[in-house]
Amino acid sequence: MERDIDRIIFDSELIAERTAQIAAQINRDFAGEEIVLISILKGSVVFFSDILRRIELPCEIDFMAVSSYKNSAVPGELEIIKDISADIAGKNVIIVEDILDTGVTLGAVYDLLERRAPKTLKICVLLDKKVAKRREIKADYTGFETDDVFVVGYGLDHAQRYRNLPYIGALKEEIWKTKD
Ligand code: IMP
Ligand code: MG
Repeated sequence: MERDIDRIIFDSELIAERTAQIAAQINRDFAGEEIVLISILKGSVVFFSDILRRIELPCEIDFMAVSSYKNSAVPGELEIIKDISADIAGKNVIIVEDILDTGVTLGAVYDLLERRAPKTLKICVLLDKKVAKRREIKADYTGFETDDVFVVGYGLDHAQRYRNLPYIGALKEEIWKTKD
């Protein structure tokens, strides 16, 4: 598995430091309030669990799985594979996602949850890729900015593999060019 990695971009120490900072920021921003953390499956689960364990506020968690039709004629069209079960009306909601790339997926999730009338709706992403966004959307909490290279590990996959690597690394070009 590790042979498929070209180089480590963010090692586990750096990730631990950054997730602790983000959780501390959320604890400060929502001091005295309750929050609902929503993990967008599957890529965000490792990041989500690291953030969650450092949240010191009363906190509910939920999960959502979506698929965006990136090549569809209707930009931002979203298929909900699994919806949240929590009622988020009037609550402080934070969407936790792995990567903000073109912005299509997060934009669509944001719109969908916004219609359910939360008190506040924030976005927390592990990585923000420096690429042209098809949908201008800003994360409130960002782990790291990255160049437009394909990365795996720490929850991120290529064809469902590499999610279990403890660091975020760039996949060798021959892997993403040949498979999937
Ligand atoms: P967007 O709709 O273009 O913003 O797509 C973001 C989604 O694409 C993320 O949630 C990831 O699932 C996937 N993605 C984009 N770049 C990468 C990457 O480098 N590694 C793994 N998944 C990626
Ligand atoms: Mg994904």
